Amino acid sequence: MRILVTGANGRLGSSIAQLLNIENHTVVGVDIDTMDITDSESVQETFSVSQPNLVIHCAALTAVDYCAQHPDEAIETNGFGTQTIALACQQHDAAMVYVSTNEVFDGTSNRAYREYDTPNPVNPYGYSKYMGEQIVRDLVSRHFIVRTAWLFAHGGRNFIHVMLDLAQKGKPLRVVTNEIGSPTYTNDLAAAVCRLIQTDQYGIYHLVNAGQASRYEFARHVLDLAGYTIIPIEPITLEEYPRPSRPPEYASLRNMAGARLGITLRPWKEAVAAFLDVDPVARPGAEK
Ligand SMILES: NC(=O)c1ccc[n+]([C@@H]2O[C@H](COP(=O)([O-])OP(=O)(O)OC[C@H]3O[C@@H](n4cnc5c(N)ncnc54)[C@H](OP(=O)(O)O)[C@@H]3O)[C@@H](O)[C@H]2O)c1
Repeated sequence: MRILVTGANGRLGSSIAQLLNIENHTVVGVDIDTMDITDSESVQETFSVSQPNLVIHCAALTAVDYCAQHPDEAIETNGFGTQTIALACQQHDAAMVYVSTNEVFDGTSNRAYREYDTPNPVNPYGYSKYMGEQIVRDLVSRHFIVRTAWLFAHGGRNFIHVMLDLAQKGKPLRVVTNEIGSPTYTNDLAAAVCRLIQTDQYGIYHLVNAGQASRYEFARHVLDLAGYTIIPIEPITLEEYPRPSRPPEYASLRNMAGARLGITLRPWKEAVAAFLDVDPVARPGAEK
């Protein structure tokens, strides 16, 4: 397949592009320096040259607090930028994977969200990503909407890196107990997406590592596995940790649609252990 990956320098896009290359697809990876998704000319030109059969759309403004402070910019990139990609897919008869988020839900459920539960975003990032979902559903008949959550990847900096950094420096750790989600390893998600695109089972998917955790449980598990068992973490609530973007409280995802196809991700605790095994920054005492 000829596959165009947007956001290919990012956490997920780079994992996906790497795996697709190993699987011998013809892959064109683009990011904001080569194709700005808010610039339709740049998108048209890239599609004309690469002629993709499939587009995996990972590019987005993902800094949730920045999105809360610049909601129009979030809409421009995550909403209208996605529209530009979806229209190009339509014109070139390409299928599309749109990567979305657990933040499309309001977090008031008392169970993990299923694929066809009703979204109701509660912050500007979630709003802009849900706008993208609706556009893709309206414009591209062959689409996969893949919702995921709480990504950790080897490149860049993520929640695991921040927790280990604070522990290594002996700084106090305060982590919230009432934000619940689904920690997910980008390598596992990339493998699941690569399997999904081999099917023609278009629709909505929740691809996350199995299980759920509070931010506090996630942090505690990371520190314990990395050998920082005696370092305390102060449990706090979201109210004690105000941020520009308030996350949905209970927004873990349940993978039902993928499981029907045999596409499941291992439990998140196993994924964290696998991540720590190979991530150089994650080893105790590692140099930054
Ligand atoms: N990270 C998570 O925990 C998480 C959770 C759920 C869902 N998701 C979704 O998963 C997808 C991938 O997330 P990620 O964590 O891999 O994101 P990421 O690391 O922030 O990568 C996104 C990439 O998109 C690029 N980009 C931003 N604006 C662009 C534009 N106008 N044109 C072209 N490229 C642009 C970014 O460039 P710059 O870095 O220069 O801005 C970045 O390289 C996103 O759709 C996100 O909404 C992420």
